[in-house]
Amino acid sequence: MTDKKAHLTVDGIDDPVELAIYPGTLGPDVVDVGPLTKQGLFTYDPGFVSTAACESKITFIDGANGVLLHGGYPIEELAEHSNHLEVCYLLLNGELPNQQELESFIEEIDANRSVDDSIAKLIASFARDAHPMSMLCSATAALAAQYHDNLDISEEQQRYNSAVNIIAKMPTLAAMCYRHSKGLAPIAPDTRLRYAENFLYMMSGEHVSETLARAMNRVFLLHADHEQNASTSTVRLAGSSGTNPYAAIAAGVATLWGPSHGGANEAVLNMLNEIGDESRIDEFVARAKDKDDPFRLMGFGHRVYKNFDPRSRVMKKCCDEVFSELGLEEDPLLKVAIRLEKIALEDDYFISKKLYPNVDFYSGILLKALGIPVELFTVIFATGRTPGWIAHWHEMLSEPYKIGRPRQLYTGSTKRSFVAMADR
Ligand code: SDX
Repeated sequence: MTDKKAHLTVDGIDDPVELAIYPGTLGPDVVDVGPLTKQGLFTYDPGFVSTAACESKITFIDGANGVLLHGGYPIEELAEHSNHLEVCYLLLNGELPNQQELESFIEEIDANRSVDDSIAKLIASFARDAHPMSMLCSATAALAAQYHDNLDISEEQQRYNSAVNIIAKMPTLAAMCYRHSKGLAPIAPDTRLRYAENFLYMMSGEHVSETLARAMNRVFLLHADHEQNASTSTVRLAGSSGTNPYAAIAAGVATLWGPSHGGANEAVLNMLNEIGDESRIDEFVARAKDKDDPFRLMGFGHRVYKNFDPRSRVMKKCCDEVFSELGLEEDPLLKVAIRLEKIALEDDYFISKKLYPNVDFYSGILLKALGIPVELFTVIFATGRTPGWIAHWHEMLSEPYKIGRPRQLYTGSTKRSFVAMADR
């Protein structure tokens, strides 16, 4: 820490309030606003636009320059040279594994891919047309039924074991949710197959090409972690109460479901289907710009990225590879998406508000090409993001922590006496 300070002068308080400033290794310094409480003041930051809620070493984002680093490694290099399970190891341990470490990590994951029959029965109890995210949220929380009794979250090894367990099980749960929604029996994991390849196998029972397996692996990798986004912050807040990791991850799944967050990839496809063809793009762009119309261009904009989302560039490259292998270059949806992106990027409204395609814009199109049904897109996002969620949970519990308990600006009624019914 340095001795940099901020001095806040407040009307009605004689002396300026001195606040410590802490530097990170990258990114903005932070101001420790703790002393304000003693002055009878809270900070006010709806949506946490300007609030650093914690210290973390896992992921760094520079929104102005489109930078995303996991353990210091750029997402572009990880997408090019690494794979999802290696990135999972990196998120959990802060270092890339050597060959032996990676092999034993993969063995641990393989040994934990199966889920108990009670979970299969829970998923089977849902109506076929239930949204798969409702099944995944429930199944994730249900994992707690089997593990929370033999889990001491203060023990690092037990936390690490539960991290491996949840990373291993999410693809199996995701595939089970899909199969049930189609009235199909679950397919058991095949540990001869690699993680993403096995997921696609558990979905369809068929073995896929190297290109499709690599594309699925990249989709998981590109979604693995993203600093203190809404769902990760939820996992941290839930975990700060001392709850078990499965309950905390279930809270993350619930948060990711929203169309402003992980639900956007499904919303992008629904939007592109609604647009239908290029002739209607201008109509939808006009609606997105109309303040009186709640419609937003799904897959555009980001709280942090104000230049470009590096993940969407990698995702677009994946799209090109998969579409050319599958001969889908003429896919009408892809053509609408490419045209929509071009129009938006040249439109002053989007340029002035720094609204660029985010990870969800192309991931939806890629998942559709991989044969994933739209309603499963956010389940895929949750599967990819699980390592990030559990890594942040593990990191938080590895250091002294306090239960998260924000305050508020109260603007309700001042104190008043109860009024009997006869006098109301
Ligand atoms: C993810 O945080 C993360 O890291 C999330 C994520 C991750 O990996 O975890 O990256 C994943 O959630 C990506 C985002 C997916 N969501 C969408 O694609 C939904 C569409 N986009 C938005 O709703 C919006 O852009 C957000 C929610 C992503 C960001 O919203 P902010 O930061 O709160 O910005 P804002 O709502 O204050 O918007 C600023 C202005 C507003 O106009 P003004 O009031 O200033 O006139 O930009 C406008 C907004 O109306 N605007 C849009 C728009 N997004 C913002 N206008 C049209 N279309 C859009 N998509």
